[in-house]
Amino acid sequence: MDETELWAEKYRPRRFDDIIGREAIVSRLRSYVGNRNLPHLLFAGPAGTGKTTCSIVLARELYGEYWRENFMELNASDERGISIVKGDSSHHSKIKTFARTAPFGGAAFKIIFLDESDSLTSDAQAALRRTMEMYSRTCRFIFSANFPGKLIDPIQSRCAVFQFSPFQDADVERYVLKIAESEGVTVSREALSFITRSSRGDMRKAANTLQASAFLSRSIDQETVYQATSSAEPEEIAQMLSDAFGGYFQRARNTLDEMLFGRGYSSTDIVSHIHRKIFDLGLPDDALLDAVTRIGEAEFRIVQGASDRIQLESLLAQIGLIGKREREKSKVPRQRTLS
Ligand SMILES: Nc1ncnc2c1ncn2[C@@H]1O[C@H](COP(=O)(O)OP(=O)(O)O)[C@@H](O)[C@H]1O
Ligand SMILES: [Mg+2]
Repeated sequence: MDETELWAEKYRPRRFDDIIGREAIVSRLRSYVGNRNLPHLLFAGPAGTGKTTCSIVLARELYGEYWRENFMELNASDERGISIVKGDSSHHSKIKTFARTAPFGGAAFKIIFLDESDSLTSDAQAALRRTMEMYSRTCRFIFSANFPGKLIDPIQSRCAVFQFSPFQDADVERYVLKIAESEGVTVSREALSFITRSSRGDMRKAANTLQASAFLSRSIDQETVYQATSSAEPEEIAQMLSDAFGGYFQRARNTLDEMLFGRGYSSTDIVSHIHRKIFDLGLPDDALLDAVTRIGEAEFRIVQGASDRIQLESLLAQIGLIGKREREKSKVPRQRTLS
């Protein structure tokens, strides 16, 4: 077993036939491939529901061996993403460069997949819309969004919308069993149901939980899964929190990115660990109350489908502000206790 490779990536479907569930979506996408044409698309839904996967499969089916040349994936939520879209009048933005060169291998158009497009500011969206129009002959956009309602109307109205809801438990089970079989690990009935339930329809989370469990034992029972999920790096979370609290925001943010993107931890796990660890910072009651309230808000928004990274970063920033306030208070000796 190659322990550095994430199973969620290794077992990402490559063809329509590998896709579990999603029959209605796949049949619409197949017809685009059959016609060799498609409108701009909007893939709406929470994390781990197959938005990126379906985009890549669509590109592979459409372009065959040239899919990489004709498909570009951008993440709008990193600053890089935003400047890529906004561009700069003196430099050709990445989108524009990609869009204006001819499609490969006789294709009629290229595809730009813009992940987390709902995190773009409305200015950036307006710029993007102009770019869409400028290159509409040779480019199709696929927007992925947790909250499609955050996209400006002119973009929404130009797209065919696909709703990606959380996977059914039966679909997640099929996926977990398929990976387990290919990797030669066994999963007890209880463990399977635990992994499935805790993933709440998020396939990436299911794959990560299975992989973390298999790391502990190749014969996975409920206890293994329990150990694997409850030990999701509390030390690292504690360090990230104390960095945020101490005003080392950048370092806290790097740790967060590593957890989210490097190791694929789920944001809900991260929040619940933050919730447990916040009590160890030794905060006075009012600051603790403030922090716990903000953690609750972040969790709520994440469960509602808001961008994980933005919510978690904002939580770290708020913890940083609480830390700053506490340091300022302690610089003014005693006054606080005078009545
Ligand atoms: N329909 C599917 N069938 C099988 N596996 C899937 C399916 N959709 C997603 N996955 C698995 O879940 C992982 C995360 O899916 P992804 O497409 O990246 O989700 P999203 O872009 O919606 O966050 C993929 O790497 C893949 O392994
Ligand atoms: Mg994605």
